[in-house]
Amino acid sequence: AQRQRHISRHQWTQSLSRDLHNFVIQLLPTAEELAVKEDVRKLLERLIRTIEPESRLLSFGSTANGFSLRNSDMDLCCLIDSSQPPLSASDLVTMVGDLLERETKFKVKTLPHARIPIVKLSLDPSPGLPYGISSDIGFENRLALENTRLLMSYASIDPVRVRTLVIFLKVWSKRRKINSPYLGTLSSYGYALLVIFFLVHVKNPPVLPNLQQLPPPRPVPYEDTHIGGNDVWFFDDIDLLKERWQSSNTESVGELLIDFFKYYSRDFTYNTGVASIKMGLLKKSAKGWLNEYKDGRDERNRFCIEDPFETDFNVARCVTKEGLYAIRGEFMRASRILAARPERTIMALAQLCE
Ligand code: CTP
Ligand code: MG
Repeated sequence: AQRQRHISRHQWTQSLSRDLHNFVIQLLPTAEELAVKEDVRKLLERLIRTIEPESRLLSFGSTANGFSLRNSDMDLCCLIDSSQPPLSASDLVTMVGDLLERETKFKVKTLPHARIPIVKLSLDPSPGLPYGISSDIGFENRLALENTRLLMSYASIDPVRVRTLVIFLKVWSKRRKINSPYLGTLSSYGYALLVIFFLVHVKNPPVLPNLQQLPPPRPVPYEDTHIGGNDVWFFDDIDLLKERWQSSNTESVGELLIDFFKYYSRDFTYNTGVASIKMGLLKKSAKGWLNEYKDGRDERNRFCIEDPFETDFNVARCVTKEGLYAIRGEFMRASRILAARPERTIMALAQLCE
């Protein structure tokens, strides 16, 4: 028997939103995993303090910004509080690497001469830790701590919609193999910025305010808001913000996801535009971010996403011509799948992440 069901668009997006929510929940890390990671952080901090007593080891990236998936790696940053750090980042990487190699069971690899010198750690899976652990320790990367706090603040304004969208985009981009800056596509951080740009600057009415442009509740001295010449101020008192600002956008997370894919497959001006969460849509020409495809090598500005604080830095600079083609192709594919509105919304999600 033929059973023709007519579901309204509203019912369909409600169902999609419920499924998205449940889909994301089962991918979140367990409390146990978070506790193990926190223990590892403390252990590493204790060890590093035998070299640098004034140091602190802080989490950033997904472990700290609320966009963590089960078994995601740990990004750690070591800050040294003494007024004159006696050792360079490269020396610290080498020394800390040696120490951890001697004192722990981690496999250790050091990259003392990278743009951001790091120590890479990994622990193989064991019965108590079925997926092992992998972690990168960097030094003095204060901008990353601040941009983590910014993403965290955006997530806490509207946890359900923001977290669901960002986490879904992370999973989707990993499953579709377009989440590898080393292979010419975009990092998770890049996708998170695309989501926030969309919610602040594309959606009307906006889902999120622009935290970097709100008037400060109290004056702040220059030195407290600048790191290496970059303005890192943003409105971070989210309780106060919630008293003063409420979004009048009531779209469900399913509707937002559909529009997100539509916008980045049809409307975003990849050739000329720069997505800036601080300033809105900018022009590549105004930033001097032009493509010079000399011998097909200079690929830095195919896709432009301005870092919220390090505004000279294009977060998508690793995206190559082929990478961008793949990413845009995936945005279109996703848009097509959702536009077809298959009767069972859970199947749409499964197909998206195939
Ligand atoms: N970061 C950055 N600039 C980049 C890439 C990353 O400052 N171009 C910093 C950001 O603070 C970001 C953190 O590094 O939050 C981790 O980035 P990434 O690994 O891309 O994001 P995660 O949320 O940790 O995602 P995943 O779970 O995929 O590791
Ligand atoms: Mg990470």
